Amino acid sequence: MKKHNFNSGPSVLPQEVLEQASQAILNFNGIGLSILEIGHRSTWFVEVIEEAKSLVKELMNIGEEYEVLFLQGGATTQFMQIPLNLIDHADTASYCDDGVWGSKAAKEAALFGNVHIAASSKDKNYSYINKNFEVPVSSKYLHITTNNTVEGTQWHNFPNVATPLIGDMSSDIFSREIDFTKFDLIYAGAQKNMGAAGVNLVVLKKDLVGKIKRKIPTILDYKNHIEANSLLNTPPVFAIYVALLTLRWIKKEGGLKEMEKRSLEKANLLYATIDALPIFNCPIAKEDRSNMNAVFFIEDENLQNKFLDVCKENGMIGVKGYRTVGGIRVSMYNALELSSVQAFCDLMKKFCN
Ligand SMILES: Cc1ncc(COP(=O)(O)O)c(C=O)c1O
Repeated sequence: MKKHNFNSGPSVLPQEVLEQASQAILNFNGIGLSILEIGHRSTWFVEVIEEAKSLVKELMNIGEEYEVLFLQGGATTQFMQIPLNLIDHADTASYCDDGVWGSKAAKEAALFGNVHIAASSKDKNYSYINKNFEVPVSSKYLHITTNNTVEGTQWHNFPNVATPLIGDMSSDIFSREIDFTKFDLIYAGAQKNMGAAGVNLVVLKKDLVGKIKRKIPTILDYKNHIEANSLLNTPPVFAIYVALLTLRWIKKEGGLKEMEKRSLEKANLLYATIDALPIFNCPIAKEDRSNMNAVFFIEDENLQNKFLDVCKENGMIGVKGYRTVGGIRVSMYNALELSSVQAFCDLMKKFCN
């Protein structure tokens, strides 16, 4: 039976990326060695990292003022590394409390300075994006989570603020055409739209760093990573290579314009099906619905469990909602084909008959 992979991350990857990655494990670029066996300072790998960096810049359409880093520790490490590098203890950083990940980021920042919650949507279980944010002029930056993987909301327009803007784009990076220059720092774990788990993309304006007095441990200081070209210590060589293959695939398929077109087709089909079938209920404000992760419910829990069982029996993988939210979550990342969403919608309709 064909499997339809709706996992929230790690998640579906393009078939050709999987094939190329498998080949590189056996014999990388025909050199007679595996990608797992080559030194990270070898010309072979330096070429990989350089091409990956340049593809990130090309896809984002950003200039020389930005640096592209490939770091470790997942997006969760960025929750701590950002304030560690950008604020002193007396400084204030602003956070939009837009979901569980954003609130975790704010909690970490409070270890390093003052946190101002610019806006929150916690009052309604994070079922909307609160755009009534207020950022003090003294704030060193404003942090948002551009796509809330758990709750199923997404920022469709970004805040215009005078302070530097930071975006956790872990679950919607490279899924749409946006003006990346609105952001001063962007970060994303690779394991959804950009490759395999193990590497974290950080894109930042070079002039953002080196402005605070605090001493920063060597491995956590962005400045050191910028100077060392992401080769400060041994990087996750294989994960960076899979990211390169995925970036090449995105470019070859037509870039972010095409990713956005496909994403809208998939999301529109799914939401139209949810809205047309009365047993399914999506509590997310319509204008804030995520095109990456659709979160919805069947009110009767027994019926919902039955539906989840039917999904399993029909090869629909990873559609159970996040452990603290429950319900159903369908993730539609770049590599997920429209035919999978169609198959899922057909199953929803059949279940209702
Ligand atoms: C938006 C967002 N931020 C942060 C994280 C945490 O990422 P990691 O597990 O790479 O630390 C996730 C994980 O799903 C996420 O979706």
